[in-house]
Amino acid sequence: MPKASAIANSNIALVKYWGKRDRDLMLPHNGSISMTLDGLQTHTTVEFDGKYKEDLLAINGKRLEKGAEEYDEYLGRFMGKLRGQYGIRHFARISSENNYPTAAGLASSASGMAALALAASRAAGLDLSKKELSILARYGSGSACRSVEGGFVEWKRGEKADGSDSFGEQLFPKEHWPELRMVIAVTSAKAKKVKSRAGMAKTVENCPFYRTWAYEVAPKDIEDMRKAIAEKDFTLLGKTAELNCLKMHATALATDPPIIYWNAGTVEVMHAVMDWRDSGLECYFTIDGGPQVKILCLEKEAAEIAKRLKSFDTVEDIIVTGAGDGARVVGNHLF
Ligand code: PMV
Repeated sequence: MPKASAIANSNIALVKYWGKRDRDLMLPHNGSISMTLDGLQTHTTVEFDGKYKEDLLAINGKRLEKGAEEYDEYLGRFMGKLRGQYGIRHFARISSENNYPTAAGLASSASGMAALALAASRAAGLDLSKKELSILARYGSGSACRSVEGGFVEWKRGEKADGSDSFGEQLFPKEHWPELRMVIAVTSAKAKKVKSRAGMAKTVENCPFYRTWAYEVAPKDIEDMRKAIAEKDFTLLGKTAELNCLKMHATALATDPPIIYWNAGTVEVMHAVMDWRDSGLECYFTIDGGPQVKILCLEKEAAEIAKRLKSFDTVEDIIVTGAGDGARVVGNHLF
């Protein structure tokens, strides 16, 4: 059978998804809004063939065996759903390369699963719509359903029990707001201890104010964020994103056992962003399931922020990015 390859970019949520109402179908309790990032990407090649006796997976050149969490929980679930839904009989060889740190809170599962959904569906001879692709990517990792599209994307929670109305839809293409920037301060490139999937499951299970987050906080923040993006209101976008991130982390912190994704560098950069803002340099932070701090700013401030971050001992790397493209098929194969 022919091979197919795809590239998908990572995305960072401006209003976060945190918690599932259906863990099998990967349906969220609350909707989310993200920006697909330029330049941070996964390239994946897939080949289905009768000669493979099981799915073979390599990430960044390293073979992953059955029993590894990435293989069983992420790839296994995804391939099971793909085969079941579209009647594919063969196993596949899959090779995937990230051009940025894997599993460290830079959403490698988002770009990885979106690239896999597109490459695998094409390798199986399917030509899926954006909606079908987004739902397929969602089975691999919730946030991946937003990386199918470029620019600014909303993942609606949906109401249907079968999940057919829960997928990522573009609000605006990247050209809508070319001046928006995200300056990423990498405070540790090591893989995190508690993956988002496990962290949010525990939060849903026992955080005492989980429902307030999912059913009061997030819906209001979604409305503000839609408005901020539509009107290109940077102050509203930044304020909403920063507070939404803190409220999400508040639910994780108040979970038993507590989930603390931050390290000392994370907290140092958070304080710096607030100080810089007080002194007139407008910027806001957001943080996901890892210690990296993503600083939102406008193009005119990005170089100054990157320069200031260079003086921090706790910052290992700085990446400046903006809104990027959705998933696309490419002709160059990894094997
Ligand atoms: O889709 P997952 O399992 O990688 O979870 C993503 C969780 C956050 O990154 C913290 C928030 C989000 O909406 O991306």
